[in-house]
Amino acid sequence: VEVAPGEGSKSWESARDILEAALERTLARDDTIVGVGGGVVCDLAAFCASVYMRGCNLILVPTSLLAMVDASLGGKTAVNFGGFKNLVGTFYPATEIRVWSGALSSLPERELLSGLSEAIKTALIGDPELLALLDRERRQLLACDLTLLETVVRRCLVVKGRVVEEDFREGGARAVLNLGHTFAHALEAAAGFGEWSHGEAVAWGMAQALRLGTRLAVTPREHAERVVALLDSYGYRTAASVGADPRRLIGAMRADKKRRDGSLRLVLQRGIGDTVVQVVEEAIVLESLQDG
Ligand SMILES: NC(=O)c1ccc[n+]([C@@H]2O[C@H](COP(=O)([O-])OP(=O)(O)OC[C@H]3O[C@@H](n4cnc5c(N)ncnc54)[C@H](O)[C@@H]3O)[C@@H](O)[C@H]2O)c1
Repeated sequence: VEVAPGEGSKSWESARDILEAALERTLARDDTIVGVGGGVVCDLAAFCASVYMRGCNLILVPTSLLAMVDASLGGKTAVNFGGFKNLVGTFYPATEIRVWSGALSSLPERELLSGLSEAIKTALIGDPELLALLDRERRQLLACDLTLLETVVRRCLVVKGRVVEEDFREGGARAVLNLGHTFAHALEAAAGFGEWSHGEAVAWGMAQALRLGTRLAVTPREHAERVVALLDSYGYRTAASVGADPRRLIGAMRADKKRRDGSLRLVLQRGIGDTVVQVVEEAIVLESLQDG
């Protein structure tokens, strides 16, 4: 079953097409659905495998960098529904994930950058050496050096695997993987989905989380400055002001976090590998977003 490129394919209709194809081929529970593609295909194929006959085998072959470092591992499956991203989904880890870095040679540069942003996030969560590599080898990585990219993928999978193993259903510890994401989701929603790639929005979100952390005396200034400089060197936009109304962004963050009590639960960093989830007053987040 082929699906058209883009988030629109992560839909109930695509899932139905896949499930119908499985039925036509009389697949049984011990048969296998194989998803070959970016994060959209991985989420979609995994969702179908999780519900077909209450769960058949699943092999994921991620072909975008973002899917290799993030979407293929961790067992979160989804389709978008009723205008909401990832509204319907399950937790269902792939039986196998097969990564062939050669697939990246055809990936558009913007998609490469989108994946590298998640790689920077993963390094911040748990791999200082990876962060140093992402800094040192920036030119080569942006030139799509497959050997280096494979190293990045391997290291990211180790970090994410560690976090997910500890907290498969996101009861607590897994929240650290959302560093920068509350800001990012708000920006994507406020700017209109598609305007910013997910990785670009995550890079912006990480910069905002680090700045806010500095304001709250959680994040040491040198750490924030070092990471923002790295994000800048990759060409991501990091300034707080990106043309979106800060009040609108706060509204979107509130909706993302489903909180109404004037505060937000945000992921902040004290340093590499030292990430905390903290409740922050909306007024302070607003100040930080209005500050340049
Ligand atoms: N389940 C999870 O834990 C998880 C984590 C992160 C992201 N996601 C999901 O992943 C999706 C984003 O993934 P994505 O960034 O890979 O987007 P995507 O799947 O839309 O792929 C991006 C683009 O790259 C193209 N592409 C993929 N591989 C290619 C290749 N080798 N050569 C040329 N083009 C290629 C795709 O056709 C698409 O146009 C979102 O839906 C997001 O919600 C899921």
